[in-house]
Amino acid sequence: MTKGGKNKKIINIAVLVSGGGTNLQALIDAERSGIIKSGSIKLVLSNNRNAYALTRAENAGIPHDCITKSDCGGDVKLFEKRLMDRLDEAGTDLIILAGFMSILSADFIEHYRDRIINVHPSLIPSFCGQGFYGLKVHEAALEYGVKVTGATVHFVNEIPDGGRIILQKAVKIHDGDTPEKLQKRVMKQAEWKILPEAAEIVSAELLKGKEDH
Ligand code: GAR
Repeated sequence: MTKGGKNKKIINIAVLVSGGGTNLQALIDAERSGIIKSGSIKLVLSNNRNAYALTRAENAGIPHDCITKSDCGGDVKLFEKRLMDRLDEAGTDLIILAGFMSILSADFIEHYRDRIINVHPSLIPSFCGQGFYGLKVHEAALEYGVKVTGATVHFVNEIPDGGRIILQKAVKIHDGDTPEKLQKRVMKQAEWKILPEAAEIVSAELLKGKEDH
């Protein structure tokens, strides 16, 4: 019997990671607690062999793999082909970028049109786009002096951080914040909540389409 009842179809989720994987952990926990019920994480792929996210996948018993650009001799086309082959092989319906630090090509995005979502640690359209990732986003927010920042989950299109917004959550900046302190607060108060919620919203939508067939 599959999750959700007898023969119930489910959305196959693949999570792409590069680092610590705290957002991956939030997704794993959300599936366990039933916040994510229309989908199930079937694969974790990293482009960084040292990513702790791979250990989190291992601990959760989720199939995982690492494909790096250097394994592909720096050939980005080959790198993405290998990613796509692995994703298709696993029957992936939805791709979640959870701290995946590589910008995907138009061909890749077209292959999974409206089936890739990303979490970004700011309120888009502030502090986003090429060059804004990880701690750099929080450094930029503090440097600008904004009083409120947050996180955004959005669909991925050809424009970096430019796809349709699914969910956002605001987080207050405190006096004396450092980029590290702010990053932690944004993760805890926003990212780890809205990423699983958005994963369920999109999975439920995709599932409707799957069940109609
Ligand atoms: C998260 O803050 C995520 O929003 C950010 O990288 C961090 C990954 O942490 N992603 C980006 O900046 C993408 N533009 P994690 O590996 O612990 O989930």
